Amino acid sequence: MSEVETPKRPSILKSKDVQKTAILWVVFTAIIGFVASTVQVRAMGAPASETMSTTINMMRVFTWAASPVAGLVAAMAATTLMAKRHYGDAPPADADHGIRNSPKAASTWLVVSAILCLFAVIWGMIVLQNDNAALLNGKAMNINVTGQQWVWNFDYVDNGTTRSQDLYLPVDKPVVFHVTSKDVVHSFWIVQMGIKVDANPGYVTETSVTPNKIGIYDLRCAELCGLYHAYMQKKVHVVSQADYDTWIQSQGGKA
Ligand code: CUA
Repeated sequence: MSEVETPKRPSILKSKDVQKTAILWVVFTAIIGFVASTVQVRAMGAPASETMSTTINMMRVFTWAASPVAGLVAAMAATTLMAKRHYGDAPPADADHGIRNSPKAASTWLVVSAILCLFAVIWGMIVLQNDNAALLNGKAMNINVTGQQWVWNFDYVDNGTTRSQDLYLPVDKPVVFHVTSKDVVHSFWIVQMGIKVDANPGYVTETSVTPNKIGIYDLRCAELCGLYHAYMQKKVHVVSQADYDTWIQSQGGKA
């Protein structure tokens, strides 16, 4: 009886396709990571609150953590699309299922996915917790926000019963928004401050922020709410406390 020798499988790392995929993986990861973590952030403008700075930081980290996954998928797709597909009369032997049948590959993928998900969930929850902590700040000023097709109304409840369609905020002062709607669902979004919460009819939702830079920022409605949804936007004025007091008095409120 002679021993049967099993032929040694050549190392997968020596395969031309695998090498090509690895190079493309690195290239695509860099491109996807860079574009995804800069373009959108730049479009939103410089942050006007700590909440926004933290959010931008989190978006960058999450994007760079996710881009190798997107890069690998793109690299495999590109390698596949570039591969020779016509074999004429000599079709290749059945595909090598070395990866699909490998417990090592499957468990690596499971562990990597699990770590990535856990990382995102834990980091996200910590940031969310910090953002929401401001809601309990006793020194915060309160503003009631009412959305309706297609305007925002602001009630400055700490300054008398002043109602205005303009949003003025004193710099460096925590503010809690109590948000509701008169008709359909809207969404209250101050872009550069990194806060966004739905405005629901018959229900009050809350969000809070401390604007930390004097300037003019964008308030948008972020929920499709009818014909003029795209025009349901306003400028937010962050001013000094003295300018705020002057403004609120000009609206008939007390400073
Ligand atoms: Cu209100 Cu969209």
